Amino acid sequence: MNRKRIVVGVTGASGSPYFLRVLRLLLEANTEVHLAVSDLGKRLLFEESNIAGVSAEKLGVPEFEQNLIIYNDKDLGASIASGSFLHDGMIVLPCSSNTLGAISSGITNSLVQRAASVTLKERRTLIVAHRESPLSLIDLRNMCAVTECGGIIVPLSPGFYMQPKTIGDIVDFMAGKIVDLVGVEHTMPVRWKSSV
Ligand SMILES: Cc1cc2nc3c(=O)[nH]c(=O)nc-3n(C[C@H](O)[C@H](O)[C@H](O)COP(=O)(O)O)c2cc1C
Repeated sequence: MNRKRIVVGVTGASGSPYFLRVLRLLLEANTEVHLAVSDLGKRLLFEESNIAGVSAEKLGVPEFEQNLIIYNDKDLGASIASGSFLHDGMIVLPCSSNTLGAISSGITNSLVQRAASVTLKERRTLIVAHRESPLSLIDLRNMCAVTECGGIIVPLSPGFYMQPKTIGDIVDFMAGKIVDLVGVEHTMPVRWKSSV
C-alpha cells in the first residue's frame, strides 16, 4: 500500500489533546504529516497541554521526526499552499470559528486557511474538526458552505456509548473517528457492537 500524506492544520480552538492523539495515530501508521499551527493554535497547545513551541520533540513524537514536516503558518508560499502539492487529505484540528469562517469565505490569510481552501478547490478530502459552543447562525451557515463545497464538518463531540473511563478514552474515541475519515488504519475503540 502506498504511504499516505496528510496535511494537518491546528488553530486556536479548544481540543489540543485530540490533535496530539491524531498526530501520533497518523505517524504510527507510517503517514507523512505536513503540519501548520496558527498563532492561537500555539497558544492553545500551551494553555491546554503545556507545550511551548512546535517540534516533533515538543509534540511528543521525537521518534517520527523524519515523517513530520512543520511549516510556518505565515508562509503563504509554502508547498502545501499550492494545489500542485499532492496529498490524501487535510485535517483542521481543532478548527476555530475564525478559521471555519475563512475557509467558507475563501478569504485566507494564513497557511492553515490557504491549505484548507486549496484542498477544497482540488476536490480533496477536507476534515474540519470544529469546536465552539453554542454555535451562532454564522457558524452554522459557514458549516453549510464548507459542506456544500465537499468539506466534512466533524464537531468535536465524543460519544459515550463505548463507556469511556478516562479522559484519554474520550480523546481516543474522537481521534479514531477523525483518522477513519482520512482512511488511516488504527486500533482505537470506535466500532459499536450492540450488546442487545
Ligand atoms: C484559551 C482560548 C480558548 C479558545 N477556544 C476557542 C474555541 O473553542 N473555539 C473557537 O472558535 N475559538 C476559540 N478561541 C478564540 C480563537 O483562538 C480566536 O478566535 C482566534 O482568532 C483564532 O485564530 P485562528 O483561527 O487563526 O487560530 C479561544 C481562544 C483562547 C485564548
